[in-house]
Amino acid sequence: MVADIYHIPVMLQQCMAGLNIKPNGTYVDVTFGGGGHSKAILNQLNDNGKLFAFDQDEAAQQNLITDPRFHFVAHNFKHLQKFLRLHQTTQVHGVLADLGISSYQLNNEERGFATRFNADLDMRMSQEQNLTAQQVVNEYDQKQLADIFYYYGELNNARKLASVLCEKRKAQTINTTQELIATIEPWIKGKRNRYLAQLFQAIRIEVNGELTALKEMLKQSLELLVTGGRLVVMSYHSLEDRIVKNFIRSGNTEGVIQKDFYGKITKPLKAINRKIILPSEVEITENPRARSAKLRIAEKL
Ligand SMILES: C[S@@+](CC[C@H](N)C(=O)[O-])C[C@H]1O[C@@H](n2cnc3c(N)ncnc32)[C@H](O)[C@@H]1O
Repeated sequence: MVADIYHIPVMLQQCMAGLNIKPNGTYVDVTFGGGGHSKAILNQLNDNGKLFAFDQDEAAQQNLITDPRFHFVAHNFKHLQKFLRLHQTTQVHGVLADLGISSYQLNNEERGFATRFNADLDMRMSQEQNLTAQQVVNEYDQKQLADIFYYYGELNNARKLASVLCEKRKAQTINTTQELIATIEPWIKGKRNRYLAQLFQAIRIEVNGELTALKEMLKQSLELLVTGGRLVVMSYHSLEDRIVKNFIRSGNTEGVIQKDFYGKITKPLKAINRKIILPSEVEITENPRARSAKLRIAEKL
């Protein structure tokens, strides 16, 4: 199934303001998706400007933009620096990341991201990747599963859930999203939809190595940005936002404040907004997917 609208860009104006585009600059949209943000960036560039866009999902290529200033990289953004180097680019003026999955991916029944469809347990963003949700659910040991449910899904009964899954899968492999839901149904705590969303989020983060990729991309962005260059990151859950917040505060994803020889705090980035930026009520009404978005903007010092 192909969704009518691939993806509505979230906080478009705020992201553009955050990038503070220099018309002849070089920019990277590391999460191209439907290309909404990329198009807005191109609109502000002159003939000397350049935009690189990354997306590891083949499906995103249906939205490619024909423009001599646009260069698409069909790879994981954890290899940002390597691929830019291949394009003879070692410095950029801005990096935009709109993390997570697109509406297209969520609404596509076959991909296995949505709790409301029945699909194979897939959840891969990239078709080239081997690890699937089916393997995570059926092959990971109980401790690994409990950790994933607890740390990535923030589920209170993570251990119980892991033990239930390990017991049930002895009798029969769990192959589809609805088999998974049926298996754990009696152990759902609190609001059903929320619980299932957190469970699916946890598995998806593991399948796609999302937090590791985010950390890599942030580190490499810092090396690529020129002084005064902008880092604009939109996240959709607290695990991602914590990493971004730590990074902007300290220059490392652990949030460890560094000091120089004289004990003076050294910071490679300065936050442009003291407070986190959230979508307006109007935007949330028009595009409910924007609801959990959190935007952070920083400048390289
Ligand atoms: C929220 S959507 C971006 C939407 C886009 N800003 C727009 O306006 O249409 C996230 C996109 O980033 C891609 N993506 C997520 N993580 C990625 C990664 N580590 N490497 C490359 N692409 C990634 C997903 O496949 C998805 O298409």
